[in-house]
Amino acid sequence: TTAQIGVTGLAVMGRNLARNFARNGYTVAVHNRTASRTRALVEEFGNEGDFIATETAKEFVAALERPRRLVIMVKAGDPTDAVIQEFAPLLEPGDMIIDGGNAHFADTRRRERELREQGIHFVGTGISGGEEGALNGPSIMPGGSKESYDSLGPMLEKISAKAADGAPCVTHVGPDGAGHFVKMVHNGIEYADMQLIGEAYQLLRDVAGYAPARIAEIFRTWNTGRLDSYLIEITAEVLSHVDAATGEPFVDVVADQAEQKGTGRWTVQIALDLGVPVSGIAEAVFARSLSGHVALREASRGLAGPKASPLGEAEAAAFADRVEQALYASKIVSYTQGFHEVAAGSEEYGWDIDLGAVSAIWRGGCIIRAAFLDRIRAAYDARADLPSLLSDETFAREIADAQDDWREVLVAATRQGVPTPGFAAALAYYDALRAERLPAALTQGQRDFFGAHTYRRTDRDGAFHTLWGGDRSEVTA
Ligand code: 6PG
Repeated sequence: TTAQIGVTGLAVMGRNLARNFARNGYTVAVHNRTASRTRALVEEFGNEGDFIATETAKEFVAALERPRRLVIMVKAGDPTDAVIQEFAPLLEPGDMIIDGGNAHFADTRRRERELREQGIHFVGTGISGGEEGALNGPSIMPGGSKESYDSLGPMLEKISAKAADGAPCVTHVGPDGAGHFVKMVHNGIEYADMQLIGEAYQLLRDVAGYAPARIAEIFRTWNTGRLDSYLIEITAEVLSHVDAATGEPFVDVVADQAEQKGTGRWTVQIALDLGVPVSGIAEAVFARSLSGHVALREASRGLAGPKASPLGEAEAAAFADRVEQALYASKIVSYTQGFHEVAAGSEEYGWDIDLGAVSAIWRGGCIIRAAFLDRIRAAYDARADLPSLLSDETFAREIADAQDDWREVLVAATRQGVPTPGFAAALAYYDALRAERLPAALTQGQRDFFGAHTYRRTDRDGAFHTLWGGDRSEVTA
């Protein structure tokens, strides 16, 4: 027998993905650098479906039906290149290599180009949903050629998560690196969502004065409304968890230094290159790095802060409702920024990404899955050329309703010294976009003053320069 698909790299994500294919009726060839892992998989889960355990690269490739579909689930970066170098010489034109890791899209573009010369389709594929998703249905973001999607699409649709309306959470995102780009932005949005939730938690704790268990209840309630999402759901779980060793709330015994593997940082780096303001995502990345500067934090602990002014019970409850508004409004802004980046990447690289389709496949399976994504999909389906999510009437109206509370929450945060970089950046973005005039005019004046960098005028076309050092008359540049 031959396998319809092969998976090499059998750490937990690869193993679960292989099992997912097998459980869906596909014969799966499995391979790992250390063969004991391959044997362990088949011993433990062999009853779930048809696996072909292989030891060498040659055996693995020989086990696959043609054109071959070979999924690599190894660490992004050099390990991925090493595996490609190992397998590519054994493949034939028409075969497909699917990279399901969190690769940088620029690497994916390079690999796709190199392998294309050999007639091999390289399908950089974002896969979200963690271990559980890989096993029971992830959100899948494949890039690569149309031809490869024709061959792979039906299989991916089968193993993917399904949205509430039954639609599979997978679409052909676009050529070469488009899939990994979209996965990168997914993770950037994930960082922003997590940061905003963290700020909401800290405000409920420090301003409202609630204990973690009570905050967990609030998140549980929020999860029945418009904030309904996986991240809100697990936040309630984490907050209600009690540490067995100490009897303290779990959240109080965890070291408060957030780690990161790089995809959020990439989202911001690329946004800088593309000139897209993703301030909320950037603040989320910076907040993680700030948290890790232990010595700096230690040295700063004595700095002055405001006097504490605890809220009464009724005030605290009203404040909690405001925080929900602030969180929701800030979330709309995060997604606005993230989708702007996807649109800009699509434009830059000629990917022609369908933003409605991207929001649709994020409705299930992935870490940012949320009821909210269905509304983003509706917004883009109604108007594919929507300049920004904030231009959508529904979202604009919701922010209009939320803004007073949003501002109040930031006033309280500022007054009580609770850091809320995510909420604040989101509001600043919103206010900057809707502003009639920005101080960018002054910036232009300064640039012209010190460097004769010239400026444009509101009333006439052309580039101008003022003779600042002379009689301050204006000349055409
Ligand atoms: C997903 C996650 C996944 C992974 C992140 C975590 O979509 O399933 O985003 O890709 O958990 O890489 O990122 P950090 O370790 O950087 O927080």
